[in-house]
Amino acid sequence: MSRRKKLYEGKAKILYEGPEPGTLVQHFKDDATAFNNKKQAVLEGKGVLNNRISEHIMENLNRIGVPTHFIRRLNMREQLVREVEIIPLEVVVRNVAAGSIAQRFGLNEGEPLPRAIVEFYYKDDALGDPLVSEEHIAAFNWASPQDVDDMIALALRVNDFLSGLFTGAGIRLVDFKLEFGRIYDQNDMTRIILADEISPDSCRLWDMTSGEKMDKDRFRRDLGNVTEAYAEVARRLGIMKETGNGTGDEAI
Ligand code: C5P
Repeated sequence: MSRRKKLYEGKAKILYEGPEPGTLVQHFKDDATAFNNKKQAVLEGKGVLNNRISEHIMENLNRIGVPTHFIRRLNMREQLVREVEIIPLEVVVRNVAAGSIAQRFGLNEGEPLPRAIVEFYYKDDALGDPLVSEEHIAAFNWASPQDVDDMIALALRVNDFLSGLFTGAGIRLVDFKLEFGRIYDQNDMTRIILADEISPDSCRLWDMTSGEKMDKDRFRRDLGNVTEAYAEVARRLGIMKETGNGTGDEAI
């Protein structure tokens, strides 16, 4: 049997050629990195959990009419996705001050923001993913003004959906990061769809009552029990029967 072709290997995921044209296989690794690769570890079971959590969220987004690249889950670590032309931007939505916005503007972590704020960062590891404005995006042609409007509208819809989903699970959605891609239809018209993943690696999730962190900040800040927290997110979303040992063996 021929080995499938690896198209791209990132920090936490690998993309392989898919079984049909226009598809890819997205593989979730256990590797964790932070601070632009300065901190690295292998967290056993993280890939399995993120695959399941992202599947659950993307499937529900597809269902409510938010277009995503997700087609179906293939196995414990892999999902079939649509091939897109990735837009080189990270789109961050924030509801509560934390992380870089708290630092940048001297806000107290946990302070609610006056409204949901959408930010764009240019995806470039060597530059440390700098914050950019719509002016930069248009001038450097990373995306058209129409693409930017579409990304903002989709990001806010995702925020509304995720805020409700997590509130129902006793979790406060502080902020999250999205990535979008372009697809071309038969007439070469383009459409923006949601790509990548939505998981505790890309969101800040705090327990609603205790305030305990249930996301990648546990790894970034050496708080321990990282996969246990991810497993608890999965359990509360109804993806896993019981809080497990983080290996994902209990995933249904
Ligand atoms: O670090 P910062 O506060 O800007 O992060 C905002 C949100 O975006 C956090 O939920 C973080 O996990 C996510 N993020 C990400 N990948 C990055 C940068 C931030 O998933 N490269």
